[in-house]
Amino acid sequence: MEQELVKKKREIIDFFLKNGVLISTNLLNEINNYGNISKVFELLKSKTIDDPLVMDLDLNKLINEANRQNTETTKEVQHRNQVKVTFSYKEEPKKRDPRDFVDYFTNRYKALEKILKQHQELKDTISINKLTSKKDKESTSIIGIVSSKQTTKNGNLLLVIEDPTGQRRVIINKNKLSLFNEAKDIVLDEIIGVTGVNVDTITFANNIIWPDTPTNRELKKAENESYALFLSDLHVGSSKFLPDDFEKFLRWVNGEMGNEQQRHIANNIEYIFIAGDLVDGCGIYPEQDKELATKDIYEQYRECAELLKQIPQHIPLIICPGNHDALRISEPQPPLSKNFASAMYELNNAIMVSNPSLININSSDNFPGFDVLMYHGYSFDYFVAEVDSLRNQGGYDRADLIMKFLLKRRHLAPTHLSTLYLPDTKKDPLVIEKVPDFFLSGHIHKTATTNYRNTTLICGSCWQSKTMFQEKVGHNPEPSRVPIVNLQTRDIKILKFGH
Ligand SMILES: [Fe+2]
Repeated sequence: MEQELVKKKREIIDFFLKNGVLISTNLLNEINNYGNISKVFELLKSKTIDDPLVMDLDLNKLINEANRQNTETTKEVQHRNQVKVTFSYKEEPKKRDPRDFVDYFTNRYKALEKILKQHQELKDTISINKLTSKKDKESTSIIGIVSSKQTTKNGNLLLVIEDPTGQRRVIINKNKLSLFNEAKDIVLDEIIGVTGVNVDTITFANNIIWPDTPTNRELKKAENESYALFLSDLHVGSSKFLPDDFEKFLRWVNGEMGNEQQRHIANNIEYIFIAGDLVDGCGIYPEQDKELATKDIYEQYRECAELLKQIPQHIPLIICPGNHDALRISEPQPPLSKNFASAMYELNNAIMVSNPSLININSSDNFPGFDVLMYHGYSFDYFVAEVDSLRNQGGYDRADLIMKFLLKRRHLAPTHLSTLYLPDTKKDPLVIEKVPDFFLSGHIHKTATTNYRNTTLICGSCWQSKTMFQEKVGHNPEPSRVPIVNLQTRDIKILKFGH
């Protein structure tokens, strides 16, 4: 072994001598075991040898560098298998006609009908045109899309629901208090199940059934400790962007800041999700240019890429767009534009997906992985404005309730025009077909997290202080927060990088 050590030292000296560089005696003396020598030799060979620093580099520093390079390569290899894009919209744009809307709604109806039929009470639904053959006062169950909702002069709720065969009026009596209160949240175009009694041409509801998520889903937990981190709404380019806070975040993520536990988390981050609005964009709201520090959209993305480049390369960045990004606003939004956001495509660890999208992470031979639904949240504005119970319970301050509202309806924008959308004729990509383990959104610039039937709902924060537009529409941003999930325990922590 001793001989090999001497031999290796000679090789190192010869290698550098041939290139006209001397290794310092200090460095040579530090080399005292064979393992170290091999690592250092490989590392020194890869250095630019006209760099005089090489000669005096501290051995520990070199070994650490070699070790870090090794782990980063291993982690990179692992990650390639652990992030699987289950759904990201790729359809080419094409001309649409009115028939496409019919097909779109038919597909939506079929997808949600399938989910609703899994409920025991809706196993034997009949189509609406068959209701006429039912005797008076006979119980039945139907599934339909809500085409009208009003309050009668007696204070009851009157719905009209439709299926492909016809229409039916449904009364929800105000004296059935808990049902009535829940039904007050019904929005147009959502698809529900109704069980009730038929009298003449009206069904008197005994129960309303929403597609919802099952109550008995297990809370999946990873075998090993690792962390997923959820960001959104960076708004780079805005004069309200908070570079100091983001800098702090970058220092922490690189293990250079925080207490022991926080550094431990930083060292074990395996995934970073970013739920849209990477940049502030241009012309998104009236007089936005007055609040832009960078007016050029290409430059905004370049600045954004420069920041994200500072995140350790072994951590995959899963990125979907939002309404401020430079691409069409209709949903599904395709992944970030390769033209405007070309700088972002140069990030080695970025995985670009559509809005919405479904990603599976952390799977292995023994573990199915976690399904993460990403949706920026453009429809949230509509539901905060239109649904009394959401507004009364906190509105924009309670993204978790908005997300729960949508998950219960298994649709990201149930009401026509609650968001702009493309009428896809094959399937409605805004239907939440698969129940996710994590549902991530952003858009309202304030973090909220909760567990709903073992789906973790997370709204990201933002990295921008309050804009004039937000002041007008009543947003209360709470910037520079980072929700972090321990995938082994499913515990959530929110780290704060600003006031
Ligand atoms: Fe935003």
